[in-house]
Amino acid sequence: MSATIPTISPATTAVVRTAAVRTATKRTVLMCKPEFFTVVYRINPWMDPALPTDTALAVAQWQALYDIYVGLGFDVHLVDPVEGLPDMVYAANGGFVIDNIAYGASFTYPERQPEGPAYMTWFGDNGFDVRVPANVNEGEGDFLLVGGTILAGTGFRSHSNSHEEIAGIYGREVVTLNLVNPSFYHLDTAVAVLDDENIAYLPSAFDEASLQILRDRFPDAILVTEVDAAILGLNSFSDGLNVVIASRATDFERQLRERGYNPIGVDLSELLLGGGGVKCCTLELRR
Ligand code: ARG
Repeated sequence: MSATIPTISPATTAVVRTAAVRTATKRTVLMCKPEFFTVVYRINPWMDPALPTDTALAVAQWQALYDIYVGLGFDVHLVDPVEGLPDMVYAANGGFVIDNIAYGASFTYPERQPEGPAYMTWFGDNGFDVRVPANVNEGEGDFLLVGGTILAGTGFRSHSNSHEEIAGIYGREVVTLNLVNPSFYHLDTAVAVLDDENIAYLPSAFDEASLQILRDRFPDAILVTEVDAAILGLNSFSDGLNVVIASRATDFERQLRERGYNPIGVDLSELLLGGGGVKCCTLELRR
């Protein structure tokens, strides 16, 4: 019996988008187990201290994310959680690390301020060149490296003078983006970095000038739906091929597949009560 070889007519070929070949690069990340996670103050619209939280469930969900990273071959480091710092699980805010230089965080709200020194101590103890920040900034929550450029968010947390500070420290181009929707208060809730060239973002999270910058620089970006963004679907972590996302972000999952990425869903519903998702729990360490 001979096999039938499917043929594609030229008309069909013209509309087929060839999925690009994506390559995974091993990542090194820092995480913090949510042993003391709860919501007892409100510093973003997601948080409601009146709603119950389940710390054991938060730990179990976080463990699933940890296991995915280990399964992807990542080098996962842990910083000890500190009692009384319930938001410390959102490690992305603990600093920004490129070229072995760890720029420390200086938090906006007093509730989180002790996290800055806690993370800087970890960086110092682990061989990073620590830079104590002169300006308010919330680390990788607002600074995202795309290729050689740092996208830097401001509007709710990190001050724009921290953008100038990191430009001086790293000698890289820093592009300021203004966030306008309080639900997307950190840049990593409104932009997902997929690899050195590609991002996904939520247009309505930015002012018109910033939106124009994003359109000019990333004409092929994935624009996510408001529905996916509303469960912090953009708050994801990519190794260039595998993209760990909120399992409920089904449109984003499809968009990623169409572009040749491998989305991996995880449920962090408990940590969403604090206003964070996959990326918030992940700080990339670049030696
Ligand atoms: N409750 C934390 C805060 O409001 C959540 C931080 C989320 N982190 C992030 N990288 N977006 O500061």
